[in-house]
Amino acid sequence: MKLTLSVIKADIGGFVGHSSSHPEVMEKAGEMLDKAVEDDKLIDARVLACGDDLQLIMTHQKGVEAEEIHKLAWDVFMAGTDIAKKLKLYGAGQDILSDAFSGNVKGMGPGAAEMSFEERPSDPVIVFMADKTSPGAWNYNLYKIFADAFNTAGLVIDPHMHDGFIFEVLDLKTGKAVKLNTPEEIYTLLGLIGSPEHYVIRSVHRKDGLWAAEASTQKLSKIAGKYVGKDDPVLIVRGQAGLPAVGEILEAFSYPHIVPGWMRGSHNGPLMPVSFCDATPSRFDGPPRVTAAGFQLAEGKLVGPRDMFDDPSFDTARVKANQLAEDLRRHGPFQPARLPEGDMEYTTLPSILEKLEGRFE
Ligand code: F6R
Ligand code: MG
Ligand code: MG
Repeated sequence: MKLTLSVIKADIGGFVGHSSSHPEVMEKAGEMLDKAVEDDKLIDARVLACGDDLQLIMTHQKGVEAEEIHKLAWDVFMAGTDIAKKLKLYGAGQDILSDAFSGNVKGMGPGAAEMSFEERPSDPVIVFMADKTSPGAWNYNLYKIFADAFNTAGLVIDPHMHDGFIFEVLDLKTGKAVKLNTPEEIYTLLGLIGSPEHYVIRSVHRKDGLWAAEASTQKLSKIAGKYVGKDDPVLIVRGQAGLPAVGEILEAFSYPHIVPGWMRGSHNGPLMPVSFCDATPSRFDGPPRVTAAGFQLAEGKLVGPRDMFDDPSFDTARVKANQLAEDLRRHGPFQPARLPEGDMEYTTLPSILEKLEGRFE
């Protein structure tokens, strides 16, 4: 069956500070999505949280960017914001940049990753959710999963993957995208995606057209014109049977590479893979976290989630992340712990430095 998987997320209030989501908000979201399943608007749905971000994972047959589905997500975020306001959660309604829904949540604050595909005889899917970082954070992981044979043995061994993948890369400054073929163009690809604040991998397809991965790419600062919280991204990756195995997909997270985000969205920090219960960034509002929710799809039903990083084999990555976090913290306000000047443009720092203008002689 032809299916659409929509992951739509927003930070509508933190509990406590920006560290996690409140159970009452999650419960309300769950009730509303259950009702939508009863009413046949959705085939199935799950509500999860990563840090202060509420994650709506939904299956349906209405295609990507369907107004009905986006409106449903919007209504859930509005209802959740009401609860967040009542509980005086921190930053209630933070990612809701407009009062009126205009047909699509993109450009209005929430983030979305959606893909439509024919459900395979068995279709394992992993939804990655990150907090305290931004969309380009996945560049490293997606490259490892779909283009690095040191990570993904199937690129060498599996005839279905041997021809490689097509990466679609979005230029955040112009809004234009380019498709690059791997392995032929890996050096060009790396030339772009090594600058994740500028170039972001949006999707990955197998050369025969099979849609393998889709990431959210919304940048709140680009929408609001100033810093209004980070654009904590989500990513959908399908696995197995001619695609990277679930273990190859997860392997790409075994090293906690450094991503921008963390405190005030202004610092570099390691992306720590954690289980659902540890997705609560607290030290210096971090370090950045990533969780992985695994599902088997069964006629559009979401069999899961399985908490994929709830595994001692990721303990070393977590220890390493804490070591890197410690080293970066020792740098205090100095680069490379703090982001370079260009990336601080949308923060509150320029308004502080402005006051010095007249004192330069
Ligand atoms: C990062 C984040 C937090 C806040 C920080 C200051 O994405 O959300 O690190 O930036 O807690 O928050 P305010 O300025 O609201 O006190
Ligand atoms: Mg927040
Ligand atoms: Mg967040």
